[in-house]
Amino acid sequence: MTAADLVVVANRLPVDYDPSADDGRGGWRRSPGGLVTALEPVLRAADGAWVGWPGAADVAFEPFTEDGITMHPVSLTEGEVADYYEGFSNATLWPLYHDAIVAPVYDRTWWRTYVAVNRRFAAAAADAAAPGATVWVHDYQLQLVPKMLRELRPDLKIGFFLHIPFPPTELFLQLPWRTAVVEGLLGADLVGFHLPGGARNFLFLAQRLLGLHTHAHSDLDSCVGAVDVGDRRVQVGAFPISIDSAHFAERVQSPHIRERAAQVREELGNPEILLLGVDRLDYTKGIDIRLEALHELLDEGTLDPEKVVMVQLATPSRERVSAYAQLREDIERKVGHLNGEYGQLGRPVVHYLHRPVDRDELMALYSAADVMLVTPLRDGMNLVAKEYIACRADGTGALVLSEFTGAASELRRAHLVNPHDLDAVKRAIVVAATEDAATAARRMQSLRTQVLHHDVDRWADAFLTDLRASGTGKAAAASA
Ligand code: ADP
Ligand code: G6P
Repeated sequence: MTAADLVVVANRLPVDYDPSADDGRGGWRRSPGGLVTALEPVLRAADGAWVGWPGAADVAFEPFTEDGITMHPVSLTEGEVADYYEGFSNATLWPLYHDAIVAPVYDRTWWRTYVAVNRRFAAAAADAAAPGATVWVHDYQLQLVPKMLRELRPDLKIGFFLHIPFPPTELFLQLPWRTAVVEGLLGADLVGFHLPGGARNFLFLAQRLLGLHTHAHSDLDSCVGAVDVGDRRVQVGAFPISIDSAHFAERVQSPHIRERAAQVREELGNPEILLLGVDRLDYTKGIDIRLEALHELLDEGTLDPEKVVMVQLATPSRERVSAYAQLREDIERKVGHLNGEYGQLGRPVVHYLHRPVDRDELMALYSAADVMLVTPLRDGMNLVAKEYIACRADGTGALVLSEFTGAASELRRAHLVNPHDLDAVKRAIVVAATEDAATAARRMQSLRTQVLHHDVDRWADAFLTDLRASGTGKAAAASA
């Protein structure tokens, strides 16, 4: 396998191995989550390599090529999945970086495994990269890789992008291994976040924890500042991620998707108002909040159960982490309650699917829904909101969007809500469902302009251009 000039390193490959698929013979399917949705089209177009875990424990695969991407699978043992993936990544970092909605667990064994697994990813990236290549490391699972990789391969350009929020500094400072994490990230030439606030928090921590000298750039620049690390200058910036908007906008117009959208509405009993939620089943997403809001609106008689139907897709996620198992019970109890009180035979008020659906079916649902409910308590970006907008080819539809998503900073004409304020969520749902057609169309037009112009190619170009321009020495950076 020849070495690549552009290498993406992420915890997951874009394809996931399921040992039980195909009657126990095993098979590959698309991996869950927004990181894969965003990056896959970028890397496919660039003929790059992707270093990642195949999603199952104790399986080993040789590199293989699929759809223009060379996959370099990194193996994890059952114990590493428990300590590095479920433990440190998803029971320590994920809740800590999402405002500690669930209490983060600090476990020294998990940390040691996180270090060991990050080292394995760094070694795999060093093997996959051609001399002088660009290596782009992604997300919270791999924050130590930039420094480890630089030690192995000083010839590389190394970028890092965080797909989840970077927390307020007082929360980050809880982390017993906070200094090692900041040092790990500073191994990159460019460290990217979705929002300028995250970038500024990181700059502050580099100064506070490591005593490093930092610089602020002009507000108009994607790079909001820089940190001097020895003779290197590390750029730090904000790059709000997006989707392959043109692909969604075009494909949703295919006759089979349009027919399916009409069929979906019919199968649901042609409701006057079709509400939709699409998420991984994660406690950050506020699925419980929208169910509670719907319940109260039905209780009060503001919405009529004869006229409204909600579809909630919830992809299974991190099922062995206890907070996720509890969430599933809670959501399923709430759905059962709503249907028990307001459903009729053959006509539940909430249709809940605990499994992923294929992309065409998802687009048909986006195109069928009158109101999209995106109510996370905290979300780095939220690509579902952008996918819904890209799929509203006829300019109708309404988006209820939490203020605590990265997307809210761009999608200002959505029905923005504070998800902690249940009355505000209820009001936003009612306004979104009943607003006059002309006002709704103006809102959607403005949202579409934003999403269609700021697509994932533009995001990747902005990041890679700044990465290539980043200098290796302070002198080079100062004169750039
Ligand atoms: P996250 O990365 O936290 O999961 P995002 O909203 O940024 O959240 O991205 C989620 C991605 O997963 C989107 O591309 C969305 O279409 C996809 N997705 C979420 N739920 C489902 C589902 N039930 N079926 C198919 N795709 C889904
Ligand atoms: C979010 C994270 C990704 C992660 C995805 C799915 O998008 O930012 O890094 O891959 O969720 O989660 P999972 O734990 O299944 O990989």
